[in-house]
Amino acid sequence: MAINSGDPKAQHRDSPTASDPDGAPPPGLTTGLRLLDGRSVLVTGGTGSFGRRFVETVMRHASPRRVIIFSRDEFKQYEMQQRMPKEWASTLRFFIGDVRDRERLDLAMRDVDFCVHAAALKHVPAAEYNPMECIHTNVYGAENVVRAALSAGVRRVVALSTDKAANPINLYGASKLASDKIFIAANNLSGARDTRFAVVRYGNVVGSRGSVVPLFRKMIDEGTDHLPITDARMTRFWITLQHGVDFVLSCFAMMQGGEIFVPKIPSMRIGDLAHVLAPGLPQRIVGIRPGEKLHEVMITEDDSRQTYELADRYVIEPAFTFWQHAPYERLNARPVADGFRYASDSNDDWLDGARLQALLSEPG
Ligand SMILES: NC(=O)c1ccc[n+]([C@@H]2O[C@H](COP(=O)([O-])OP(=O)(O)OC[C@H]3O[C@@H](n4cnc5c(N)ncnc54)[C@H](OP(=O)(O)O)[C@@H]3O)[C@@H](O)[C@H]2O)c1
Repeated sequence: MAINSGDPKAQHRDSPTASDPDGAPPPGLTTGLRLLDGRSVLVTGGTGSFGRRFVETVMRHASPRRVIIFSRDEFKQYEMQQRMPKEWASTLRFFIGDVRDRERLDLAMRDVDFCVHAAALKHVPAAEYNPMECIHTNVYGAENVVRAALSAGVRRVVALSTDKAANPINLYGASKLASDKIFIAANNLSGARDTRFAVVRYGNVVGSRGSVVPLFRKMIDEGTDHLPITDARMTRFWITLQHGVDFVLSCFAMMQGGEIFVPKIPSMRIGDLAHVLAPGLPQRIVGIRPGEKLHEVMITEDDSRQTYELADRYVIEPAFTFWQHAPYERLNARPVADGFRYASDSNDDWLDGARLQALLSEPG
């Protein structure tokens, strides 16, 4: 069944939100939000940084029938519940479950129309020390989400990926690459059902748990006499939480199934970022850590053969498609040049201090 845009009255609701660093909402965001009106939405990892902002955005700017927050820890769910406005209580469901537990996912996905898969173990050294834990959550968990979504007839599933999944050098990245492959290939299993799977891949979320910005801020607050910099040349892609959420919502409107959507986002050197956070504070080079790259890649040269460019994003189309699908041509999409590579060092969009401050001023 084709998806329609839901309650026509809701068409008049203002599109929210926010934004890339220059303040423009991604095309398709309003349509993506309208798709959720009257629908049931599930977010795995709903208590995480992404999940919380996703739920708040959907509740503020759409009229979903139900929003299910799926995660393991009851205390994080309790805290999130406490922070949510009381009028949302009848729509929100706090569902305790583990993506490793297929039966629990089956229960959670009943009558769900849209799913975002954000649950993951994402700490690079922890994945190296506990490899099977990472594989059970990030890889087998992905398989369980796919199977449960197919059984329940969920219409659209977007799985979150990371730049670390492109040419991975650590297990976290490799597990997310495996997850990406599982979600893309899941479209082979849909048959006549209208269940479609796509992936969103982006870089460092400014201020998310475990990222360098909260670490630097904590050190500065505690009166450190220097900031540790791994390598003066190191660059990263940066995105705000709200941009990530809006981008995922826009992908619901755009996806046909099998795509990896990559937003166009700016880069910055870690040393420049430290300088903006604490001008004049000395920096000490501590050396690149195991499992880290000097620069991150979102689209490799090999992916470029299937990559198309739109104004605000790249779309990597599936290399193997064993399912029936309409042509992937999109309005004004053009193939990228042969040998194209989207990497944080060769990016043509760079954050300066003012733009970084604008990103950092977004509520966490
Ligand atoms: N943060 C970034 O910079 C960044 C960048 C690129 C991509 N991503 C991707 O974006 C997604 C969301 O990241 P985030 O920053 O929101 O992560 P986060 O803040 O660490 O949240 C992770 C969420 O997943 C849940 N979770 C973990 N293991 C689970 C399991 N086995 N079953 C069910 N739920 C589980 C956690 O809750 P419980 O522990 O209570 O279960 C939590 O709700 C991840 O897939 C990550 O790979 C993040």
